[in-house]
Amino acid sequence: MTEPQKDPLVLFMPSGRRARFAKGTPVLEAARQLGVYIESVCGGRGICGRCQIEVEEGHFAKHGISSSPAHLTGVTEAENRYSEKRVLAAGRRLSCQALVDGDLVVDVPQDVQINRQIVRKRAETRHIERDPATRLCYVEVEEPDMEKPLGDADRLLQALSGEWQLENPRIETRLLPDVQRLLREGEWKVTCAVHDDGDGPLVTAIWPGFHNIACGIAVDIGSTTIAAHLSSMLSGRTLASAGAPNPQIRFGEDLMSRVSYVMMNPEGRAAMTKAVREAVGQLIAQLVSGAGVSQEDVIEATFVANPIMHHLFLGIDPTELGGAPFALAVSGAVAFPARDIGLPVNEGARVYVLPCIAGHVGADAAAVTLSEGPHRAEDITLVVDVGTNAEIVLGNKHRLLAASSPTGPAFEGAEISGGQRAAPGAIERVRIDPETLEPRVKVIGGEEWSNEDGFDKVMEDVGVTGICGSGIIEVVGEMYLAGIIDEDGVIDGRLAETSDRIQASGRTFSYLLWRGGEAARSQEIKILQTDIRAIQLAKAALYAGVRLLMDKLELESVEAIKLAGAFGSYIDPKYAMLIGLIPDCRLDKVKGVGNAAGTGARMALLNRGHRREIEEVVRKIEKIETALEPRFQEHFVAAMAFPNKAHAFPHLAEAVKLPARKVLAEAEGGGRRRRGGRRGTR
Ligand code: FES
Repeated sequence: MTEPQKDPLVLFMPSGRRARFAKGTPVLEAARQLGVYIESVCGGRGICGRCQIEVEEGHFAKHGISSSPAHLTGVTEAENRYSEKRVLAAGRRLSCQALVDGDLVVDVPQDVQINRQIVRKRAETRHIERDPATRLCYVEVEEPDMEKPLGDADRLLQALSGEWQLENPRIETRLLPDVQRLLREGEWKVTCAVHDDGDGPLVTAIWPGFHNIACGIAVDIGSTTIAAHLSSMLSGRTLASAGAPNPQIRFGEDLMSRVSYVMMNPEGRAAMTKAVREAVGQLIAQLVSGAGVSQEDVIEATFVANPIMHHLFLGIDPTELGGAPFALAVSGAVAFPARDIGLPVNEGARVYVLPCIAGHVGADAAAVTLSEGPHRAEDITLVVDVGTNAEIVLGNKHRLLAASSPTGPAFEGAEISGGQRAAPGAIERVRIDPETLEPRVKVIGGEEWSNEDGFDKVMEDVGVTGICGSGIIEVVGEMYLAGIIDEDGVIDGRLAETSDRIQASGRTFSYLLWRGGEAARSQEIKILQTDIRAIQLAKAALYAGVRLLMDKLELESVEAIKLAGAFGSYIDPKYAMLIGLIPDCRLDKVKGVGNAAGTGARMALLNRGHRREIEEVVRKIEKIETALEPRFQEHFVAAMAFPNKAHAFPHLAEAVKLPARKVLAEAEGGGRRRRGGRRGTR
């Protein structure tokens, strides 16, 4: 007796989802049934080209599948027509046309490019699976008939429901006056933007005929900079990125001074809201014109920001965030039509603002969490976004804590005598010879160290103008290693006898890092005792915050550290650990993760599942208010020392020969707690 023939097995990559499907099933349909997102604008008519796939050739032993492009039915008329007009790359098929005819391993490529005027401006680093809240749906609508007195809009909704399996679609009342004109203009064919973020499908925009462009904007509103990314909602590509200074700076340099401005000036809140919205509007205009698309094509936008920026953007008075209990007006995600705040995008576009974690830990930290995914990992991960206020998230998939710590602006170069923002000419790397105490430096904008051939050219090009955050951390770390400062951060004046780099400055001493000189843009740069103190205060605040969270999880060390933000990307993990900014960890497990807040905003833009994911994580995350914790002060005092007065740094000690330390009160007592343990996190 012959065995009954099994249906072909179809496996989708990269998701790995698989199932058996009857021969003759369109690949697009198989994908839908498995929840694999493949874009389709034309509803399977073979005209939009969004549904492209590739079939792998070969035997995949792990999956038990012998796959071949020949296991699809032949190329259809529609595919031939499509490739006459547009380029269908070799090996690609339209999944709405190709039918399953044997076992398949199907690859869903991430680079489906239809409109050639759209260019990729920036390397894409993250694959984000797409399932956007708004999508384009092309429909052909029945013409009116005396026998059937159904309205034009009703027939449009009927067509959407039939062709796109939309349940009870609705249409924005705002669009009703245009429906008849648009249907006739498009000869009864239209493309609708349909928004469905869990509240039922709603038509938010209509184009006559076939429309094949849809974009979204992801924006990170920082206190100093606003960064925005324009993505294709159809391919997921980032089409353009741009940044601009936050114009609210004119109302106050830091967050608290902006809150004070609102408190002191009756018109302050409105003026700051207007300023930030206008700046966002200008960025959007710049992005769409750079990418060669229209503002009308922007149908979704996501926003992340710290709590005060979040409130001001939404037009909410941030005064309550200025003091305990730091009450947020709204902490959950906020969604509304973009026209409510006058953004220059399609009138039907929708805005989604990610949730805030706490009064000090904003939607930007939520976006960083979404991007770095400590809640998806087994390893205990510390995620730190270092800014004037460091936002800290610690834990794993079983338990997650969040807090913020007031680090102040020292790491951004403020409050440091020779400090400056990271810009060409700023010292970013420092090495000090422990014998001679002579330094060598590298500046932003130059490749060579100051003792190498070619540095003359660097001096000509950018000069040496100051020291930025990463340089400050390195110089302090190197001064500690060279014995110029002791573990309490005191500059050793006795060294002045042997090195002219150590100089008396009033009752304390300083270290001459750069002599300055004749050349233009060659400033003398000294590290003063007060600079060392400012760094100690900043790093102790961050470390104490982290340590409090570690206490809660009963941890002695963490398994991975991710440093978010521009600063986090440039600091050398070894030096960050050496000065005790972050706790001990395997050095290869400490990584700068760049603009994680922007990545999180893009994830929420391109996939509504990520919105539900972060909403749930934020609900569950435990919020710790560092100011209220009795042990904060104790940790802070211990963390003033280099690297720390109370805690051992065994992983660091393996990588760097640390100077002998006077006191290590709890180092031996570390055994009382579990090193890298996870009690309480399962
Ligand atoms: S769905 Fe449009 S071409 Fe296949």
